[in-house]
Amino acid sequence: MLVSATEMLKKAKAGHYAVGQFNINNLEWTKSILLTAQELNSPVILGVSEGAGKYMGGYHAVVGMVNGLLQDLNITVPVALHLDHGSFEGCYKCIEAGFSSIMFDGSHYSIEENVAKTTELVKAAHDKGLSIEAEVGSIGGEEDGVVGMGECADPDECKAIADLGVDFLAAGIGNIHGKYPENWKGLSFETLDAVQRKTGELPLVLHGGTGIPADMIKKAITLGVAKINVNTECQLAFAAATRKYVEEGKDLQGKGFDPRKLLAPGAEAIKATVKEKMELFGSVGQA
Ligand code: 13P
Repeated sequence: MLVSATEMLKKAKAGHYAVGQFNINNLEWTKSILLTAQELNSPVILGVSEGAGKYMGGYHAVVGMVNGLLQDLNITVPVALHLDHGSFEGCYKCIEAGFSSIMFDGSHYSIEENVAKTTELVKAAHDKGLSIEAEVGSIGGEEDGVVGMGECADPDECKAIADLGVDFLAAGIGNIHGKYPENWKGLSFETLDAVQRKTGELPLVLHGGTGIPADMIKKAITLGVAKINVNTECQLAFAAATRKYVEEGKDLQGKGFDPRKLLAPGAEAIKATVKEKMELFGSVGQA
């Protein structure tokens, strides 16, 4: 059964480790992540962006697939199904469809509008037992070939949003989605420290987990990060393994074209990536 992410992240913050949010795109992704979490006895958060939700057919399809896998694969570790960077309308759709957690990304609104919309969604989520993440300070990344640098959140704005009763908070600290550019200056631990001082026990979320060096990840966890989002790294691992299979001509040998064979190396590569991250984040054995 899906659970909200509140308890697992409170436990993570108190225990000085982080739970990974791994974004899913299809059955192979979901199965690989769930099996790895179970094998390593780790809690896990499945992230679904609005685009990925649409790709998979819609939010009900996602909920059906995930619940079915939890049952059929006998997954007993805590699993949350979380909307990643949700719009106001998207949050309502996922609450209705049976997600166990949502993120409202109001970072592009004025702080007043972000406060108003977050307040409403905190109530809607909590009424149905879901957890809710909010964001302050937009997280950069590649858009139309231009890589935007991550903003640093204003700690007072973080405090204002934290006080609305959100369960965990994403604060921009110079992190970006996708690969980091050569001239990236690294995470702003000064900002993270200031945000944690203002928000206390609230678990903090680090987006853009792909490509952040291990020592920075570890330091961020010591400063209150309890959830780390990883997306691109699984995509790169899947693509590289699939490319290798095809380039070696394996799809042309015997029944190598069977999707269950063709997609197997990619699925294994996702498992290896998830395992590496869970070990780095310290969530192994914490279910
Ligand atoms: P990456 O794609 O950089 O790993 O970021 C994932 C993320 O933050 C999803 O919200």
